[in-house]
Amino acid sequence: MPREKWSSTIGFILASIGSAVGIGNIWRFPYIVGENGGGAFLIPYLIAIFLFGMPLMMLEFAIGRHFQTSVVPAFSSIGKRFRIAGFFIVFVMGIILSYYIVITSWVLAYSFFFISGMSMPFSEFTASYSPLVFFLISGGIVFLVVRAGVRQGIEKLSKYLIPVLLVMLLMLLVYSISLPGAVQGIRFYLTPDFERLSDPFVWTAAFGQAFFSLSVGFGILLTYGSYMRNENIAKSAGIITVSDMLIAILAGIVIFPIVFSFGLDPAAGVQLAFVALPQVFQEISFGFFLGTVFFLLLFFAALTSAVSMLEVPVSTLIDHYGFERKKAASLASMIIILIGLPSALSYTALELELFGTPLLDIKDYAFGTIGLIIAGLVLSITAGWFLDKNIIFREIGGSRKMQGLFMLIIKFFIPVILFINLAVRLIQPG
Ligand code: ALA
Repeated sequence: MPREKWSSTIGFILASIGSAVGIGNIWRFPYIVGENGGGAFLIPYLIAIFLFGMPLMMLEFAIGRHFQTSVVPAFSSIGKRFRIAGFFIVFVMGIILSYYIVITSWVLAYSFFFISGMSMPFSEFTASYSPLVFFLISGGIVFLVVRAGVRQGIEKLSKYLIPVLLVMLLMLLVYSISLPGAVQGIRFYLTPDFERLSDPFVWTAAFGQAFFSLSVGFGILLTYGSYMRNENIAKSAGIITVSDMLIAILAGIVIFPIVFSFGLDPAAGVQLAFVALPQVFQEISFGFFLGTVFFLLLFFAALTSAVSMLEVPVSTLIDHYGFERKKAASLASMIIILIGLPSALSYTALELELFGTPLLDIKDYAFGTIGLIIAGLVLSITAGWFLDKNIIFREIGGSRKMQGLFMLIIKFFIPVILFINLAVRLIQPG
């Protein structure tokens, strides 16, 4: 059977933006900014996305399009001994997806609560078994989209949801900037405190956030690249990176005025989206409408990202093991749901924990942070040092000078910066 392709360039770009824009932008970005000194954080963040994240994104697209296959067979084509590296990336990706769906399901639950006018404190929600029900529903929706295929499932979903998501974000933006605490919130958010830049943890947080948000190192963009036609890789990566950045920054402009107007803690971390904000939405006029818009926005963002993650193991089952898509989607979804169950239960009455930390948080540290850094290392070292550079140059185009600079970044800068990140994260977890 001929390989599935995106139906259009815009479809490919929207699907990739769908993968990049997720919980990472709308929930995680504002609280990471809050915890890391407000505006100062934007400097390392912008360096991380443009100098490191975007080149890795281009590299993934180039490998995928050149080999016309997914992660494991693409790594095997670079060299048989690298097949294991491909499996490692799919494995890390699968574990991340397993708990990403749990958070997606909380968002779905809160969308449902706001739509139906119910008020449900987070502690009450997690003490019940309803997170499990929403987890299964979310997993089921992700499965159905991927089962429908690249064009009919993933591309179609993104073509509808990304424009809707933008409209919802703009609606919330108008509301937020009209609040009395808007100026104070935006000032906190955007005024840089240069002293914070001497803290290495601000830098590692920026790199972690940048890679997670752009979806680089997951093997997703390599897989999406394998469905590309003759799109310009540098231009596409530029559009995707800038869109991802703008949506994250706008999400901050939505959140911080609310935080300052209603006296919330800007560094409230994980609590912000599921505890503090729902309380605010329940108290203000039109709050149920605004809460519905906020949580649906988060859900659409999370769904298009989760779908892109599931496509990685599914395409591997298809390309490497010769599965048919429907069977591949069923098998991969079942495995991911099973692996995700303990994380879904870690926030229920069962309280599955290890050393007093919920399993979900442990997975996020081990795989979403450390695993993702190692996956980025594996990708940049394998492709930078062992793949014929002319293949990469043919795919990315550009002048000789630009290509030279690109290789320098892939072969040296990215591995070095990722090693430093890894060391800092291992020395000081969290
Ligand atoms: N890139 C996705 C996100 O930001 C994984 O949530």
